[in-house]
Amino acid sequence: MAPGAVEETADIVSHVSTTTDLKKDFALDSAKHALDAAISRYTAANPRSQELHELATGSMPGGNTRTQLHTSPFPLCMRAGEGYQVTSEDGVTYTDFVGELTAAVYGHSHPVIVKSLIETVTKVGINLGATIAQEHVHAAAMCERFDLQRVRFTNCGTEANIHALAGARAFTGKRKVVVFAGGYHGGVLMFSGGQPAANNIDRDDFIIAQYNDVESARAAIAQEGVAAVLVEGMQGGSGAVPGTPEFLKAVEKAAKEARDPAGVVFILDEVMTSRVAPGGLAAIHGLHPDMKSFGKYLGGGLAFGAFGGRADIMATYDPRPQAAGSKPFLTHHGTFNNNTLAMHVGHAGLTEIYTPEVCTDFNAMGERWLRDLAVVTAGTKMCFTGVGTVLGSHFTTEGLQTIERETAEDWTLKELFWYEMMEEGFWITRRGSIALCLGTPESELKRFVACVSEFLARHASLVAVGTKD
Ligand SMILES: Cc1ncc(COP(=O)(O)O)c(C=O)c1O
Repeated sequence: MAPGAVEETADIVSHVSTTTDLKKDFALDSAKHALDAAISRYTAANPRSQELHELATGSMPGGNTRTQLHTSPFPLCMRAGEGYQVTSEDGVTYTDFVGELTAAVYGHSHPVIVKSLIETVTKVGINLGATIAQEHVHAAAMCERFDLQRVRFTNCGTEANIHALAGARAFTGKRKVVVFAGGYHGGVLMFSGGQPAANNIDRDDFIIAQYNDVESARAAIAQEGVAAVLVEGMQGGSGAVPGTPEFLKAVEKAAKEARDPAGVVFILDEVMTSRVAPGGLAAIHGLHPDMKSFGKYLGGGLAFGAFGGRADIMATYDPRPQAAGSKPFLTHHGTFNNNTLAMHVGHAGLTEIYTPEVCTDFNAMGERWLRDLAVVTAGTKMCFTGVGTVLGSHFTTEGLQTIERETAEDWTLKELFWYEMMEEGFWITRRGSIALCLGTPESELKRFVACVSEFLARHASLVAVGTKD
């Protein structure tokens, strides 16, 4: 991950330019030159975005309220979205490959979503300060679709993980949690660079193992005091890095066979990946996690999260006196946990739009696209990883064509790619992740493959394997 991509670029520049290898210096100069030129074109083409950013700095630190969306010299400001496209404040329409970091699976203003929103606002109202019948309807649909015995709703994926961990800790009576370097489980549960982020919660309670490393996972899970292992089936923040089936199965096995009688709860973070197959990524690999966490599109595009799984673990949250017995139950607060809009619109999206058939076809299209992209990136520093319609692009000096864990990347090339793909009309995240919206025409996917191929040809000397550190 690259929270401050421009700063990282500067680091790479100063590091490499001190080497004595003239060939490497030359390659870097060219990459830097190409990037500077791209930034100048971007600045000239997007004056309104720049103006809005400057205005925003007057009321928000750095003009930003979501770090992921900050880009220097200024972020592109979007005005509207429709279908698979977004239009900037500078009046340019892009094919939306950001897809709201996987949440916009329905695209923008899908008629089913709009209808449900309007009906909810006009016929139900916005939040009633009470239990509503629809929360059970959406809960039942999620339990069926994702093989859960019980589920609870939250306001986002971060909260879902926080509550899943609290449940696992209460159930086992232990505190430690095994996570993986490069893992992202929300704004206060980040493990990039193998370290908990400065603003993480419970920083001392995590054991950080290596992703896609069976031995590292087994050793961590076997440690004393481990309540749970929390893992993404594909690391989204590290650039859509898929867990291998062997690794994910080994994590499950190690948790289920833990010697401690209190057990180790296996939690699969499906916040990003529940969309990659009808039963989520767990179904692809035949995994049976004790608990799962969710978010993103399952609220129909509204703020949403959920956690669920085994009834005995979820019973830690059961407030009924007869269920709790003499044990205190875990409280689970949140004004908007059962908000009318997410309950109705989320359910409409899941059951009327993203049916198992639509989900299967959509992700098969993504897999075909990944194969086409692999053909044009072969033999270069670039590669694409991912599962279904969630992808990440990477540039490594050694020209890796698969990425197994968070890896040092060439941020000058990554940024150059980002700027140049924007000029081709594709809206991608600066770190290079892509999440398709339903309804994206295959012609746009083909055009993207051609643009990637042209980019690699245009910068052949920069993307040749082995040039630059
Ligand atoms: C795997 C994973 N877990 C948790 C989260 C946190 O979700 P939210 O942003 O809704 O809090 C994200 C968000 O991107 C995620 O990718």
